[in-house]
Amino acid sequence: MSNESTELSTDSKRRPHDQAPSELYAEFMKTGWLPTDREDLSPIEVVTYAYSRRQILSSAFKGIRLVIHAGGFKVRAHDTDYNYRPDSAFVYYSGVQGSDATADAVLVLEPNGDSHLTYLYMNPRSTRDTESFYRDTKYGELWVGRRFTLKEAKDTYQIDTRHLDELDLLLSDNTKTLTLEDQELAVFASEQRLCKDEYELRELQEAVDATALGFCDVISAIPAAIETPRGERVLDAAFYGRARILGNDLGYNTIVGSGSHACVLHWIRNDGDVRRGELVLVDAGVEMDSFYTADITRTLPVDGKFSPSQRALYMLVYEAQLAGFEAIKPGALFSDINKAAHTVLAKGLADMGVLSVSAEESLKPEVGLHRRWTLHGVSHHLGLDVHDCGKARKEMYSGAQLREGMVLTVEPGLYIQPDDELFAPEYRGIGIRIEDDVVVTADGYRNLSENIPRHPDEIEKWMKRILGN
Ligand code: GLY
Ligand code: MN
Ligand code: MN
Repeated sequence: MSNESTELSTDSKRRPHDQAPSELYAEFMKTGWLPTDREDLSPIEVVTYAYSRRQILSSAFKGIRLVIHAGGFKVRAHDTDYNYRPDSAFVYYSGVQGSDATADAVLVLEPNGDSHLTYLYMNPRSTRDTESFYRDTKYGELWVGRRFTLKEAKDTYQIDTRHLDELDLLLSDNTKTLTLEDQELAVFASEQRLCKDEYELRELQEAVDATALGFCDVISAIPAAIETPRGERVLDAAFYGRARILGNDLGYNTIVGSGSHACVLHWIRNDGDVRRGELVLVDAGVEMDSFYTADITRTLPVDGKFSPSQRALYMLVYEAQLAGFEAIKPGALFSDINKAAHTVLAKGLADMGVLSVSAEESLKPEVGLHRRWTLHGVSHHLGLDVHDCGKARKEMYSGAQLREGMVLTVEPGLYIQPDDELFAPEYRGIGIRIEDDVVVTADGYRNLSENIPRHPDEIEKWMKRILGN
């Protein structure tokens, strides 16, 4: 759709009328509408959590105005935008969700004595006495749907709302102000999200459960993927359907790597064929309306049965993941997870005779030869962003101790490039990753994705159950 008017346009149906509306029409459009303000809205579940999060933020920045932008639309081409998604820090502190997400809104914590007052500045529903509701292709209700009135947003989020037009006036005085462009605030906002509250844990579990169904859809689509050129796209599309039905979107671009494409870590082109006898690696996550995402990888035999060489490599990754899980408990180091998993992988590679040094030697940071096949770290924080808390300082992230409520991935992998002559031919072109999402508990961890089959025997049974062969 376009808001451009050209005399030659043959698509006038989906553009505003070329000429400015006649006075008669403008008047006509103002009248004859039933009242449609919503009185039925009540506070959503996240409200009390968002309030507590703001209290913590407020006490860390006494006397300072904090300005947190939701962000605006991103242009895809000319007058066409990408689907809108608000900034994660804005979501965290405001509680704004899903299709109600208000583009361009700004959350302001205004200093008030020892604490702050919170305001949500937003672009509310255009009233019927304006032209905007029928002529504005970006925000107009007749073009893109209804937005909240200021009152409706207040009823929902329990935050005082103001019109966005009033923001400049507020910002024009000389109160000390920080936005997320300021490192100090960005780092704090990232580190505050390291430990999840109960609401976040519930949403992450929902995201994992929706993702589990998405993986069932992927398996159901394997026969069609084998039959269809660029079959990886068939699997990609199967998962995407589930993400849009149960959630807001994908949490990140799905990786579908069939055969040796699995050895390309960020294979998101997904334009390869899916062939019998090969493995297909699928790394995918549903993002819920709350914007929390899962991040799961399963590596599946296209035929429903692992070959001996596929199974041998798979079991090594499987054992490495178990060792990674076992390293998780409060007080352990984040880096212990990586160390535990990589120790298993390095030993396995040494036993296979492909390492030119001992596993012990390889595991020294200054040596690291096994990394030719392991390629990446095995853990990251997960939450509103797939790589959550990305601005946290090193000592709070990779150098930190684990704490109850942290949500992490455990995702070891082995990738044997198709031209790697250090491995026997039957192993070349095999890429395997197993990725689960876990929460650190008081005495260890809980695997949120425990119900998604992981052991090769369970995977074969799972595929048989779905495909019936
Ligand atoms: N899907 C991205 C990752 O696993 O980190
Ligand atoms: Mn991951
Ligand atoms: Mn992943």
